[in-house]
Amino acid sequence: GDVAVLVPAAGAGVRLGPGRPKALRFLAGEPLLAHAVRRVAAAPSVHSIVVAAPVAEAAAVAELLAPIAPVTVVVGGATRQESVAAALAAVPAGPEIILVHDAARALTPSTLVESVAAAVRAGDDAVIPVLPVVDTIKEVAADELVLGTVDRSALRAVQTPQGFRRVVLAAAHAAAVDPLTDDAGLVEKQGGSVRCVPGSEYALKITRPFDLALAEHLLLTGAA
Ligand code: C5P
Repeated sequence: GDVAVLVPAAGAGVRLGPGRPKALRFLAGEPLLAHAVRRVAAAPSVHSIVVAAPVAEAAAVAELLAPIAPVTVVVGGATRQESVAAALAAVPAGPEIILVHDAARALTPSTLVESVAAAVRAGDDAVIPVLPVVDTIKEVAADELVLGTVDRSALRAVQTPQGFRRVVLAAAHAAAVDPLTDDAGLVEKQGGSVRCVPGSEYALKITRPFDLALAEHLLLTGAA
């Protein structure tokens, strides 16, 4: 394999309600992170996996994942971006393609990991899986009055794994100042080009209780 996958899993997950860090919330009897890592590890291109865990959970995460796949566990940071940077620093020499994948996208199929990696291998510096936006999107002021309607056809909802040539991701993180919500955004700020490839509905981000219920249904019915 020529791919290393970084899994930032150090977030608190407040939007899921009170409880454990989000990556360790249970889905069908197993933490989200275990589901995510199993699917990533099943992708043939994957050479190494580095997980960024909450400091208080690093040992538990290493123990949880050991039976699933060989992974390196590092302690995450205060922001997602810091957690990704910590994981990036722990990637061994070798893989020239780096994927960054949120633990919260627990049901992401291995085929999506492969298709993002393939697009980077084919020559793109940065690759993101996307879906069309189905809702009408409006810009709204702080007082909830509508400012305008955005042209939906030009919008995409962005998922992970996001893929990068290793040197491109390293340079983007080295130059990063303000934290962003994704890694491709750092490449955009550097003036790099980012290619979209088709995403997967199964790569939904499990953020709110509804998402957890949907994911459980997909697993229990064998769809995911
Ligand atoms: O909060 P959000 O849903 O954007 O988090 C996306 C991913 O980033 C999650 O997998 C979360 O665990 C991770 N994260 C992290 N370190 C932080 C904050 C979030 O690894 N400090």
